[in-house]
Amino acid sequence: MSDILGGWKRSHYCGNITKADVGSEVALMGWVLRRRDHGGLIFADLRDREGLAQIVFDPAKDAEAHQKAEAIRNEYVVAIRGEVVPRPEGTINPNMKTGEVEVLVTECKILNRSKPLPFTLDDYVEVAENLRLKYRYLDLRRPSLQQNLILRSKVAQIARQYLTDNGFLEIETPFLTKSTPEGARDFLVPSRINQGTFYALPQSPQIFKQILMVSGFDRYFQIVRCFRDEDLRADRQPEFTQIDCEMSFIDREDIILVMEGLIARIFGQVKGVDVPLPMPRMTYAEAIRRYGVDNPDVRFGLELVELTDIVKGAGFKVFADVASGGGIIKGLNAKGCAKFSRKEIDDLTEFARIYGAKGLAYVKIEGGEWHSPIAKFFTAEEIAAMNVAFGAEEGDLLLFVADKPKVVNDSLGKLRNHLAALLGLTDKNTFKFVWITDFPLLEWDEEEKRWAAVHHPFTAPMDEDVEKVESDPGTCRAKAYDLVLNGNEIGGGSIRIHQQHVQALMFRMLGLPEEEARLKFGFLLDALECGTPPHGGIAFGMDRLIMLLTGSDSIRDVIAFPKTQKGTCLMSEAPSHVDAKQLRELGLKVTIKQ
Ligand code: AMO
Ligand code: AMP
Repeated sequence: MSDILGGWKRSHYCGNITKADVGSEVALMGWVLRRRDHGGLIFADLRDREGLAQIVFDPAKDAEAHQKAEAIRNEYVVAIRGEVVPRPEGTINPNMKTGEVEVLVTECKILNRSKPLPFTLDDYVEVAENLRLKYRYLDLRRPSLQQNLILRSKVAQIARQYLTDNGFLEIETPFLTKSTPEGARDFLVPSRINQGTFYALPQSPQIFKQILMVSGFDRYFQIVRCFRDEDLRADRQPEFTQIDCEMSFIDREDIILVMEGLIARIFGQVKGVDVPLPMPRMTYAEAIRRYGVDNPDVRFGLELVELTDIVKGAGFKVFADVASGGGIIKGLNAKGCAKFSRKEIDDLTEFARIYGAKGLAYVKIEGGEWHSPIAKFFTAEEIAAMNVAFGAEEGDLLLFVADKPKVVNDSLGKLRNHLAALLGLTDKNTFKFVWITDFPLLEWDEEEKRWAAVHHPFTAPMDEDVEKVESDPGTCRAKAYDLVLNGNEIGGGSIRIHQQHVQALMFRMLGLPEEEARLKFGFLLDALECGTPPHGGIAFGMDRLIMLLTGSDSIRDVIAFPKTQKGTCLMSEAPSHVDAKQLRELGLKVTIKQ
């Protein structure tokens, strides 16, 4: 039986043919992107994962091949043999890797046909994302997505190699497991054998990696899928991948040192970017004070300015009332934006309202003076003091929010990023890292009326704060750290609690009665009593990292088969109904809320 390839072997990837190959015979296999019939000569671009090659069918060279070429349509799968020749003068394409050469076809096989596609696979054509996701197998043929996944594969390889070189062991942890609290809802899997019981898919391998430390593996890593049922955004998926690490007999500095090396290696090898080490650091408190958020984008300035002391006694009632009610007033100097129109300022106000701001007072500095509906409420001294605080100059636009600290910081922090994007200050090829340290241990959950762990319940309090975990929980700091890149949290970790009594105290603080803590985490509490070394670790969000490395706007563009914002896969149509028999076997009955 003759095989469809007729014994042909590919000699090159299409995208790898260069001037050095001129004169050689090549065999290429790939998909036809564009066929151009120049009446006589037929040109086509042949595409594979490495790129495009221009192939030429000349009836004078081979009539049979030329005849086949007439039948070829877009996305047909084709194998050709031919000779690499330089492109004629004037037809060289400097924008194409293979743009100096073309292949003169001597033999052609059509390996398979394709029906007309729902969209063109050109990177320059905008296609609705839902259509792209439904036909993901086609979307993934586009060069940009192919490059993203190739880069992703490289990053996984580099991480494996680096961590292995540094003594980390790759160990798998279960997917069918119990709840690991990372702050999201669990995805549950019903058990058939033990009806009425459920596994939870891991929100992270957190507990298992700590248990591996108890068992003495010392340094662990895993490139691992995590599952979180939470509200989705451009940088969040219900299943995503972490580069997850844990180490024993170490402190924070050891972890930061190894992990900075990992990130620098990745950026050096895949982007040729030299990441200066050590990376800068900032405490959580400083980040909130200067940037309003715990994931500051430090590519640009536009820092927030604290104004409460200057304006608390001023004649502007909004500010005075907020200050006397325990709130704060902060501002942001939008440099050079005094020329913003009424409409543009209204848009900024609407933006700030999304984050709870009740208004956005503004001042334009024009002709050396304050122009603003609120200027009349301030004395010359107050204005002078604010000008100094803002570093105000001619042409600036000063923006103010007065409210509870959380609202002020949230709204101005987000507005700062928004403005920076408007002003073109967010260059995708600039990479600015910062470690955020000294996070609070606990935060008050107003809805649940209880304390919640800021990182997770296994994070150790700072030694000097252990004493006041119960008496003054709100002021305790944690041995937790995040790595932030260009305003994105790309990793987070902590030193863990390694003593049973501290862990039990932490569960109590989280409102978990002892019995329930036993039920959920008894194995961990027991393990902590059996010789647990001091340990800690971190997990990087691999999808976010790849998103930033590739300059993509969404993590969906760096995941082969992502889900929509509604958690569905448009290609396979998951999630879907199951048949009655499956439900019966699982002992489940579905009632749908109207
Ligand atoms: P954390 O919850 O901070 O820590 O997660 C670590 C990193 O994972 C990424 N990430 C996500 N990426 C895409 N979609 C999501 N839904 C999503 N959620 C998180 C972020 C984040 O920084 N067990 C701890 C780590 C530890 O303490 O060692 C943990 O999971 O980039
Ligand atoms: P008003 O006195 O409500 O007309 O507001 C005067 C200006 O102050 C308007 O530009 C409002 O957007 C702004 N403003 C109102 N409330 C706040 C607030 N809490 N923080 C900052 N600006 C505010």
